[in-house]
Amino acid sequence: MSMSDTSGVTESGQPPRRTITLTVNGERRTAECEDRQLLVEVIREQLHLKATHVGCLNGDCGACTLELDGQIVKSCLLLAASADGAEVRTVDGLGTPQELSPLQESFWDNDGFQCGFCLPGHLFAARDLIAVNADPTDEEIRHAIAGNLCRCTGYQRIVTSIREAAARARTVAEA
Ligand code: FES
Ligand code: FES
Repeated sequence: MSMSDTSGVTESGQPPRRTITLTVNGERRTAECEDRQLLVEVIREQLHLKATHVGCLNGDCGACTLELDGQIVKSCLLLAASADGAEVRTVDGLGTPQELSPLQESFWDNDGFQCGFCLPGHLFAARDLIAVNADPTDEEIRHAIAGNLCRCTGYQRIVTSIREAAARARTVAEA
């Protein structure tokens, strides 16, 4: 495809497009996207994984968080084309309504969410924290979730959910 060298559009006047391949929640998926499209847009609009949310679109809220090759990222800050070939885990890959992960169960039991818009960021941040710190203090939990905004809970119930998830994981590990 011949492209303009200054405008970022092809000679036909359309933005350049490409096919990308991702492994999403263990499943190989392909998507057609424009080079300028954000990863969060492709995840939601082309792959129909709507539990990854769009909030601020500038990296502040964390609603678009997912795991890319094992690292949590804010998918509104990445072009989809740059993720070509990557392993992606979205919040859908953490558990199902029928089979919640222990972390999701703790959020459920402790009213750790209301609308759920912020859950991708909080769940991935909590998961990362508990993986390296089995017994986090409330201060450590608050530090770990600092890049995520919640408009509903006032955060205390999120902190409680994460503290209890860590405690439950320790109980299981000691059994
Ligand atoms: S939508 Fe990505 S951080 Fe807010
Ligand atoms: S539960 Fe609504 S934004 Fe956090």
